[in-house]
Amino acid sequence: MIKFILNNKDISTQLPPGMTLLDFVRYHQHLTGTKVGCNEGDCGACTMLVGELKNNALQYRSLTSCLTPLGNVHGKHVVTIEGLNMEGLNPIQQAMYDESATQCGFCTPGFVVSLAGFCLSDQNATAENAIAAVDGNICRCTGYKSIERAATKVAQFMQSKQDTAPTAFVSDNQILPGWFAGIQQRLQVLQTEGNGQLHATTASEWVGGGTDLYVQKHDTIKEASIRFLFDDAQLKGISQQGNQCIIGASATVTDLCESPVMQSYFPRLADFMKLVSSTPIRNIATIGGNLINASPIGDLTIFLLALDATLVFRKNEQQRKIPLRQLYKGYKQLNRQADEHLESISFELPGNNTFFNFEKVSKRTNLDIASVNSACSLTLQNDQILNVRISAGGVAPVPKLLEETNAFLKGQPVNEITINEAIAIAQTEITPISDARGTADYKRLLLGQLIKAHFMMASQYAVH
Ligand SMILES: Cc1cc2nc3c(=O)[nH]c(=O)nc-3n(C[C@H](O)[C@H](O)[C@H](O)COP(=O)(O)OP(=O)(O)OC[C@H]3O[C@@H](n4cnc5c(N)ncnc54)[C@H](O)[C@@H]3O)c2cc1C
Ligand code: FES
Ligand code: FES
Repeated sequence: MIKFILNNKDISTQLPPGMTLLDFVRYHQHLTGTKVGCNEGDCGACTMLVGELKNNALQYRSLTSCLTPLGNVHGKHVVTIEGLNMEGLNPIQQAMYDESATQCGFCTPGFVVSLAGFCLSDQNATAENAIAAVDGNICRCTGYKSIERAATKVAQFMQSKQDTAPTAFVSDNQILPGWFAGIQQRLQVLQTEGNGQLHATTASEWVGGGTDLYVQKHDTIKEASIRFLFDDAQLKGISQQGNQCIIGASATVTDLCESPVMQSYFPRLADFMKLVSSTPIRNIATIGGNLINASPIGDLTIFLLALDATLVFRKNEQQRKIPLRQLYKGYKQLNRQADEHLESISFELPGNNTFFNFEKVSKRTNLDIASVNSACSLTLQNDQILNVRISAGGVAPVPKLLEETNAFLKGQPVNEITINEAIAIAQTEITPISDARGTADYKRLLLGQLIKAHFMMASQYAVH
């Protein structure tokens, strides 16, 4: 039995937990304000909010309901556009109307829900953050400038929030319906323990956030027997133990961005992660899913390869540790047994003399997968390279650590000759193919430019 609160209504359902939240809401609850667009996480027409209790605080996130299984909202609060309706237009809807930010209206519920997500978040009430909240929403007929103006107005409503809890602020100020104030208490009493259906031991599919699987197997996965990993407490959390960072396999990309450990060791983390998908996808995409889907251009995979991450797999009581660089045997072929799941990822946090950089080139800056991406961990001493790990995606059938290039660079002085020689060696290690992301020659050129970019950024950020 899956239980959750949908807007202001308690839901208990025996429907398959693999069914998408979008289908459940539209076809079983007959709430058709949420639209179906691409069904692939790209357009944001299906955006909903999900609130859950974390350390006794209620936290809301936007997500793409077309890729979210019902099992992943068990015990939570789901908000659709209908749940934001008030007597007249709420102030977010009014801002969209006043700024002429809607024409055909198909995308509008998604934009309004994303902006409500911004209002319910702990983020600073800046126009920049409000605009970033709609980075997963596409509009095909209204100019984005009018939507940006509406988002800026929404940020203004939130400016006096200060330390007030967002749910209390939005209900007290009639930005969202008053019943939002009671959700935290309702979630506390929602009985969600012991749901064996979500932990099936003989499951045919293991699902994290679902952002890869639900694109690949949209029509068949609904009826599959699924083991839901997203809310498994053993797989959550990001912590520091000594000089190691330990990431639970089900930590999301958003968890990574918000981790104090990651922020303190990777000061430009937010800039790197802005290049990864969009807010609603980052909110549900797990790090484990990024590694196990074995895409040759997985951004987190490339990031973690340059950090020489170690993976811990678990099968019942047994654990197995392997370096990430030994995971990929061929295109989508893994050094992993079928019944092993990824439990955690760890890596050594960079020391003072180590510089880290991530670069990604894609056709669009936002919400696009890479043509080529690359990360670099570079340890220098007196302008000499003590250690370096450069990884690259989109240039081989697997995410690649450029081992020969890295071996050459060790011990070299940093200068133009070294970098050009390294690029020439890198060219011998890669086998890019021509596809929709660019020709093989273009990808070769890109990798060379990204290697240069790593060294340029290292000099800009003054590594000693
Ligand atoms: C619109 C859109 C944009 C995207 N943009 C990007 C992007 O910019 N960069 C990028 O890198 N990716 C992108 N992706 C791909 C995807 O979101 C990421 O790879 C994501 O991290 C996958 O995680 P998930 O939890 O959603 O995976 P899922 O779909 O849940 O799972 C993916 C695979 O991993 C397996 N799996 C998951 N967790 C475990 C575990 N703990 N143990 C064993 N197996 C496991 C599943 O069985 C499945 O085979 C995008 C996807 C979409 C839909
Ligand atoms: S329908 Fe397009 S993102 Fe879900
Ligand atoms: S108003 Fe038509 S798609 Fe946005």
